[in-house]
Amino acid sequence: MSVTLRTKLPQVGTTIFSVMSALAAQYEAINLSQGFPNFPCDAYLLELLNKYARSGQNQYAHTFGVPALRQAIAQMVATQYAAIYNPDTEITITSGATEALYAAITAIVRPTDEVIVLEPCYDSYVPAIELNGGKPVFVALQAPDFRPDWAQIRAAITPKTRAIILNTPHNPTGYVWTPSDMDTLAALVADTDIIIISDEVYEFMSFDERPHLSVSRYEALRERAFIVSSFGKTFHTTGWKVGYCLAPEAFSAEFRKIHQYLTFSTHTPTQYAIAEYMQEPTRYTQLASFYQQKRDKFVGLLQGSAFGIIPTQGTYFQLLNYEKISQESDTVLAEKFVKEIGVAAIPVSVFYHNKQQDKVLRFCFAKDDETLEKAAERLRQLPQRF
Ligand SMILES: Cc1ncc(COP(=O)(O)O)c(C=O)c1O
Repeated sequence: MSVTLRTKLPQVGTTIFSVMSALAAQYEAINLSQGFPNFPCDAYLLELLNKYARSGQNQYAHTFGVPALRQAIAQMVATQYAAIYNPDTEITITSGATEALYAAITAIVRPTDEVIVLEPCYDSYVPAIELNGGKPVFVALQAPDFRPDWAQIRAAITPKTRAIILNTPHNPTGYVWTPSDMDTLAALVADTDIIIISDEVYEFMSFDERPHLSVSRYEALRERAFIVSSFGKTFHTTGWKVGYCLAPEAFSAEFRKIHQYLTFSTHTPTQYAIAEYMQEPTRYTQLASFYQQKRDKFVGLLQGSAFGIIPTQGTYFQLLNYEKISQESDTVLAEKFVKEIGVAAIPVSVFYHNKQQDKVLRFCFAKDDETLEKAAERLRQLPQRF
């Protein structure tokens, strides 16, 4: 008798990121689809990794994370956001932000609980909610800049609402939450049991003098929040998968119960290396100007093209509106771009549960200048009506 396996995630297939990267490789296209830098991280960070690996830091790390790294994060959060988190009880190191998001959702979501998800959104939130028996309640962000629609968010809240997931700076749209967004959220959840899960992996990539408004800056939000971030984005090391979660002690205690059995601990020498590297704050505070220059370069090169461009406010993604070029769906057009002009991008509809069409593609500009120049040259040549 053959054993049948009933999927717990019927909607989930191969992610678009794998599909587009494979297609880009097959057609030798310039890959601006998946979000990762094509340039190396700082050689000094590699030296530190080497130093700690060679000096014998190669066994299981403390399950909550190497103390030196938790202390470095506490220091960073205190200076950047004026927020005090106890490194012993309120900061946990995880294997990437993805693990932290999964652990936070698992710690709080029970069957039939509702979680408000603002779309378009990063693809790990919904499966994590569903695997825990929860129900995602979708609210669309408002094009063209994709700000939160507060009337709709308010209308989506019910007695079953367990949490709201927010992401600022936002992937894929680049929107950065404003003081008014934060104040409105705080007023909305006051006197409720709603928990905030704040995905802040692009915390050091907020442009044009816009401060990153971490939820940790707001006492009324911080006391009910899991805040998640990742060093992959900050130090050009997405493959290292080291992230962290800030949460009040009682929240962290529940989070740690899950983390303990998900991964137990995170790669040891990398944690030591990052802890030492963080002792010089300019190594993360200069990231915004680094990526702002890349954004300006990419956007500048595309001026005069047929794309509609609103310069991104944060992250290393730029959305391009293609309404004037094609009326095709974004998935069809993204595939055509790879095959016919040799540039891979991500169709934004994949970040919506209902595959909503905003006629925009997402391009990652965390690439060296030569790659950006070549990609822009190809994109600039696109005729109206492709
Ligand atoms: C919004 C968002 N959250 C979380 C992650 C995952 O981060 P990590 O690679 O550290 O798991 C990403 C990565 O692309 C992201 O864009």
